[in-house]
Amino acid sequence: MNVLLIGSGGREHALAWKLAQSPLMGKLYAVPGNPGIAEYAEVARVDPADHRAVIGFCRRHSVGLVMIGPEAPLVDGLADNLRAMGLLVFGPNREPARLEGSKGFTKALCTRAGIPTAAYARASDRLAAEAALETFGFPAVIKADGLAAGKGVVIAASEDEAKAALDAMFDGGFGAAGDAVVIEEFMEGEEVSFFVLVDGETVLPFGSAQDHKRVGDGDTGPNTGGMGAYSPASIFDAELERRTMDEIVRPTVRTLAEAGTPYSGILYAGLMLTREGPKLVEYNVRFGDPECQVLMMRLESDLLELAIATARGELAQAPAPRFSDRAALTVVLAADGYPGTPAKGGEIGGIDRAEASGAKVFQAGTASEDGRLVASGGRVLAVTATGATVGDAQQAAYRAVDAIRFPTGFCRRDIGWREVERLSRESLQG
Ligand code: AMP
Ligand code: GLY
Repeated sequence: MNVLLIGSGGREHALAWKLAQSPLMGKLYAVPGNPGIAEYAEVARVDPADHRAVIGFCRRHSVGLVMIGPEAPLVDGLADNLRAMGLLVFGPNREPARLEGSKGFTKALCTRAGIPTAAYARASDRLAAEAALETFGFPAVIKADGLAAGKGVVIAASEDEAKAALDAMFDGGFGAAGDAVVIEEFMEGEEVSFFVLVDGETVLPFGSAQDHKRVGDGDTGPNTGGMGAYSPASIFDAELERRTMDEIVRPTVRTLAEAGTPYSGILYAGLMLTREGPKLVEYNVRFGDPECQVLMMRLESDLLELAIATARGELAQAPAPRFSDRAALTVVLAADGYPGTPAKGGEIGGIDRAEASGAKVFQAGTASEDGRLVASGGRVLAVTATGATVGDAQQAAYRAVDAIRFPTGFCRRDIGWREVERLSRESLQG
């Protein structure tokens, strides 16, 4: 089967790498792609925002399945338009994609379905927002309602910080995403990313991971899209997975199906493991980036076969996804300045050397210029390795990182620290 992959990040490089291993794969195309993806796919010049052009491309190249990587085209209804033309699509339609596109939508769904999550208030003006702040106290969680690339959330420790955050959101700093804000109760606990495949009805667990959202070592500095991740998250044990499936994921999928807007694709639940149990922080309607990179390193099943079964609504007959027992860890190399304005054009070298030891370097924000590989985005590379434990994977990943030359970039040196600490505590306790 010919497949079109939409996207251009490290997540899509990992998906392309895995898809290309499938015996079911005919030709893989990618739009807009990147130089890493181009090793596995023919990169085509089509604007993913031009749905007619994407449909035309699929017709001309006998594409059987379209896999949509990022959230923006999903929220924009690309899946609906492709499905209307009879194409198989991996990714949800516009309405169920509101799980990510509108925090207010998800909160309302949680209330209706009795799903555990932080108490909240949605406010479309400053006065209402300040009233809500008084209800919840500090620290307060303040979010722009729409898509803001992981940067639209502020945890305000004091009233002054909260007011500054409201200023930024209502003053248009987040564009339309800041037309309304959601104010939430602060949940205390450890965060985990949990993934499931959903075909409208059937839900199959698809692994867990932990992300590192802050830019600096020791989880300091501003939030980013993710500076590194590892999988599995050992804290997310079988019992927590069972509770999350029963109390959060299945009620969500059922509610959307009953509303006549079934969810199809990968669903990413951002969870807080609180003293009272797992609670939903947020949903994403796509793979996490860089969580996808570690999941793909561990996935033993045929990704294309699972994607087709998902798109056809045949997950009930599909074998459960299999993952290696080995751990995987990825370190993001970002361009200086990220998550602010990243330095563009910095040269990258040494990828072959980094991969010689079995690590995999997924490209995110890269471009090729006169035969050189250069940085073209905030997050540039995701250097990914496996090991018997997260600690082993961490060592392997940093060995690979150290083989890369990227003088205008930086990375965190402590990806995986929580898990490594947990492992050493356990070994001390015997
Ligand atoms: P979101 O974009 O909703 O995932 O939020 C980004 C990050 O903010 C999350 O990954 C959490 O670390 C943090 N966060 C969001 N909501 C809450 C909450 N209600 N309580 C505590 N932390 C939160
Ligand atoms: N790494 C977090 C995300 O993809 O949203």
